[in-house]
Amino acid sequence: MTNEKTTHFAQSKRKDVTTPEFTADGRFKRKIRSFVLRTGRLSQHQQNAMNTHWSDFGVDYQTTPYDLTALFGNGNPVVLEIGFGMGHSLVQMAKQNPDINYLGIEVHTPGVGACIANAVDQKVDNLRVICHDAVEVLTDCIPDASLQGLQLFFPDPWHKAKHHKRRIVQREFVDLVVQKLKCGGFIHMATDWENYAEQMLEVLSATPALANRAAGGGYFERPDFRPLTKFEQRGQKLGHGVWDLYFIKTDKRT
Ligand SMILES: C[S@@+](CC[C@H](N)C(=O)[O-])C[C@H]1O[C@@H](n2cnc3c(N)ncnc32)[C@H](O)[C@@H]1O
Repeated sequence: MTNEKTTHFAQSKRKDVTTPEFTADGRFKRKIRSFVLRTGRLSQHQQNAMNTHWSDFGVDYQTTPYDLTALFGNGNPVVLEIGFGMGHSLVQMAKQNPDINYLGIEVHTPGVGACIANAVDQKVDNLRVICHDAVEVLTDCIPDASLQGLQLFFPDPWHKAKHHKRRIVQREFVDLVVQKLKCGGFIHMATDWENYAEQMLEVLSATPALANRAAGGGYFERPDFRPLTKFEQRGQKLGHGVWDLYFIKTDKRT
């Protein structure tokens, strides 16, 4: 495949997500992140998948924009998914839509290993994965006006009010996503936490470049094309509801 980096993942970029950054005068730069790195060892299966197939599926974080056509070996539309967890639903979507290229981002290394292992089993080749903070990837690696879509399914809800600032969906995040979308591109979010759904709806609805595809301007009926995710399934068992949001970028100036 086209990514020429033959990085042995175990020895490479995992530490990037925690690399400290410093201000010009040498002070530690504190960043609010949407995740806490969970400990968790890779299973042997996941580790093997990483070591054998990172060069096929893995993409390293870099400080310059990717050439997406070179990354996938074709010019098909690219859909980015942030926080794919173990990647089951992402691999399923990639398998169902061979003419769409899927780029997944996840900071939890065992999830990345599981996703690669599953992609190999399913013989999926329209998928690439990145193990890094999605906000940094969006900012530095994704060219402006290049994405056909952005999927964010069941992001960490950060239940307590004092932690809401850690939620990934904020004004700045949505503006950044809009900048990376092509005109006509979509943003599809889903959550099982009503208060977060309200925040998503408020921020997306207040973005002039976006149009809500839901009838009446509210939530979107759960579409059949979105596979059931692991966290959604967990929420169902707990009796949670599910809220989907689907918006289209209508303004090419942004
Ligand atoms: C609640 S889980 C949902 C996983 C999956 N989408 C699902 O529905 O089963 C949220 C995931 O987002 C990942 N995540 C959170 N913030 C992230 C970020 N800034 N960059 C990449 N991944 C992130 C977490 O590691 C976690 O696996």
